[in-house]
Amino acid sequence: FLPQEVIRRKRDGQTLSAEEIHQFVAGITDDSVADSQIAALAMAVYFRGMELEENVALALAMRDSGRCLHWADLNLPGPVLDKHSTGGVGDVVSLMLGPLIAACGGFVPMISGRGLGHTGGTLDKLSAIPGYNPFPTPERLRQVVREVGVAIIGQTSDLAPADRRFYATRDITATVESIALITASILSKKLAAGLDVLVMDVKAGSGAFMPSMAASIALAERIVEVGNGAGVRTSALITDMSQPLASSAGNSLETTEAVRYLKGEERNPRLHAITMALCSEMLLAGGLAASEDDARLQLEQALDSGRAAEIFARMVAELGGPADFIEHYPRYLPAAPALRPVYAERSGFVAAMDTRALGMAVCALGGGRRLASDQLDYRVGLTQFVELGQWVAADQPLLLIHAADESGADEAARRIRSAISLSEAAPAALPLVYQTIH
Ligand code: URA
Repeated sequence: FLPQEVIRRKRDGQTLSAEEIHQFVAGITDDSVADSQIAALAMAVYFRGMELEENVALALAMRDSGRCLHWADLNLPGPVLDKHSTGGVGDVVSLMLGPLIAACGGFVPMISGRGLGHTGGTLDKLSAIPGYNPFPTPERLRQVVREVGVAIIGQTSDLAPADRRFYATRDITATVESIALITASILSKKLAAGLDVLVMDVKAGSGAFMPSMAASIALAERIVEVGNGAGVRTSALITDMSQPLASSAGNSLETTEAVRYLKGEERNPRLHAITMALCSEMLLAGGLAASEDDARLQLEQALDSGRAAEIFARMVAELGGPADFIEHYPRYLPAAPALRPVYAERSGFVAAMDTRALGMAVCALGGGRRLASDQLDYRVGLTQFVELGQWVAADQPLLLIHAADESGADEAARRIRSAISLSEAAPAALPLVYQTIH
């Protein structure tokens, strides 16, 4: 096996065999393939793309580069399901969705990630909870999933290790933006969790990872094809990220919003609609609901009965967090010391938001990382966002900044004012779910 021959064939537009792909990925994992060769193959794939069969082989080879979870021996009385989002601002859905699906009879081993660029990460939001250990042993993880129905954890180094090296090389060689490579990267990690069902939430809009609606649809279609080709029932929703999804963005602030949602204290209607749409799709795909109406009814009951909130509380306690977290969350999540409303400079309708810039503002406040080694300030972020289409008066706040100090608040206020545009006329309302792809 010569890596340069595989690169040459892809460079010339030929189709790689599963064996060639497998050997190349094995070389990434055991370091016998050089960084320069990884970069060259990534660039060849960037320009030439991959056939569906090649893409399935790449996702499977990357999955098999590390440890995979198996559930069959536990004889769980329900399917193993997960949801994955391409990321956004105020996308705190996972914290509610995991417990909701567990309350409806599913089992959710959710391997979540840290924030990336302007997007928040589920793992960072949960890490705001004192004592929460997102890295249980594999045995402990299986126990929590079996007994509670859900465990939201972090990615350990033995999960799809080929992806870590591949992604690090792509990141510095302008080859992240390949649909085939993004698909294999995301799916390698999700396939390693041993799922029966995967529902993707592919975002579109100013806060999305993909740069256009067409690119979001193309990615969703490819992930659905490759996921199903790799043996996991996969579907995707294209959802709106033209504004933050929740009422807040920032780690403790979003964890607080999730707890308040589960307890019924406050539910942002857009966050609720997207959570319900994703959960319904999961229950239907997993055979846990007979119809969309049945799914919605089960989910409403899981919320109204307090079952979903109770499951969240148990997950937190089982993974080392406080046993009374959801009763006394303000005690455990310290507030930021500097609060600063940002006012519009004139009155008007909220016409557009640069959601990416809002996410970068949270990052600059200390809520996200610039370097992988950066420590987060869980307290900081933004709340009380105005919404697209809303009329705001000149003396009305666009949002509230939570900062570590006054100078951080000043800097965030400057960034934010230009990220929200007002106009004389109300903009057309956008759908929340643009499309569902099976
Ligand atoms: N997220 C991933 O996990 N992989 C990619 O390639 C891009 C985004």
